[in-house]
Amino acid sequence: MAKITAGVTMSHVPALGAAIDLGKTGDAYWAPAFKGFELSKQWMKDNTPDVVFLVYNDHMTAFSLDIIPTFAIGCAERFQPADEGWGPRPVPVVEGHPELAWHIAQSVIQQDFDLTIVNKMDVDHGLTVPLSLMCGQPKAWPFKVIPFPVNVVTYPPPSGNRCYQLGKAIRRAVDSFDGDLNVQIWGTGGMSHQLQGPRAGLINKPFDYAFLDGIVNDPETIAKIPHIDYVRQAGSEGIELVMWLIMRGALDAKVKQIHRFHHVPTSNTALGHLILENPR
Ligand code: DHB
Ligand code: FE
Repeated sequence: MAKITAGVTMSHVPALGAAIDLGKTGDAYWAPAFKGFELSKQWMKDNTPDVVFLVYNDHMTAFSLDIIPTFAIGCAERFQPADEGWGPRPVPVVEGHPELAWHIAQSVIQQDFDLTIVNKMDVDHGLTVPLSLMCGQPKAWPFKVIPFPVNVVTYPPPSGNRCYQLGKAIRRAVDSFDGDLNVQIWGTGGMSHQLQGPRAGLINKPFDYAFLDGIVNDPETIAKIPHIDYVRQAGSEGIELVMWLIMRGALDAKVKQIHRFHHVPTSNTALGHLILENPR
C-alpha cells in the first residue's frame, strides 16, 4: 500500500534559490531565513520518502497565456530545471514516478476532478526552490517527484475549497495504489506578498499567523476563505496559498506539527514553512 506520511509547506521565493546557488546562505540578510530550514533538512534525512507529490505553481515557464491548465499532473519520467532567464538553476534533474502519477490521474479524474496530463514539462523556481530548501545541494534529489502545477497566476484561480477537496481525492488515490510507497505531499508558495501595483511589498503577519494556525488545526474554516480575502489581506500573490489546502486535504483531520517557521523579509515575500505528520 502507498501511504501519505507527511505534508510540508514552504514559500518558493526565487532569490532563495539564487542565494543557495551563489553560496550566500550565510550572508547577514539570508542566514535567518535558512536557519528555519536546518531542522527541516535533518527531518528530511530522517524521513526520506519514496515520492514527493509536489503542488506548486508554474510562473509562465512551462505554460504561457496560450494554454492555462487549472490543475495539471506531471506523468513524465523526468523534468528538466527550466531556464527562467539566467540559465537553468544548477540543480539535479527531477525524476518522476510515472506509475503513481498515472494512477493518481486515473483515480482523481474518476472522482470528478479534471486534471491536465503532462508528459513533457520543464520545472521552474516554484518547484526547484522548495526542493533546495528541504534537501540542500545533493548530486541527485533523494526521492522521485510528481509535479502538480496549479494555476494561481492568471485569473480565475481555483477556490481554496476546491483545492481542499482535491487534496482529499489525491489522498484516496494514493491510498488505493497497489505498491509499497512512502509518499509526502508538499504545498508550496505564499505566504503574504504582492509583487506589483500600488500595494507592491505588502506583508500581513497577523493574516499569515492565523493562516498557519488554521492550516494545522482548522483547515475546514481556512478552506472557506474566498479569493477576494486572499487578495485583500495577503496580496495578489498571496493567492498562492490555496495550494497549501491541497496538501492539507490529503492529510488526516488531526496532524502532528513537527516544525513551524515564519520569516520576514525574504525578498518581497513573507516566508512561511510547516512540517506536518500524519499520526503513525
Ligand atoms: C518573489 C516571490 C514569488 O512568489 C515569485 O514567484 C517571484 C518573486 C519575491 O518575493 O521576490
Ligand atoms: Fe510565486
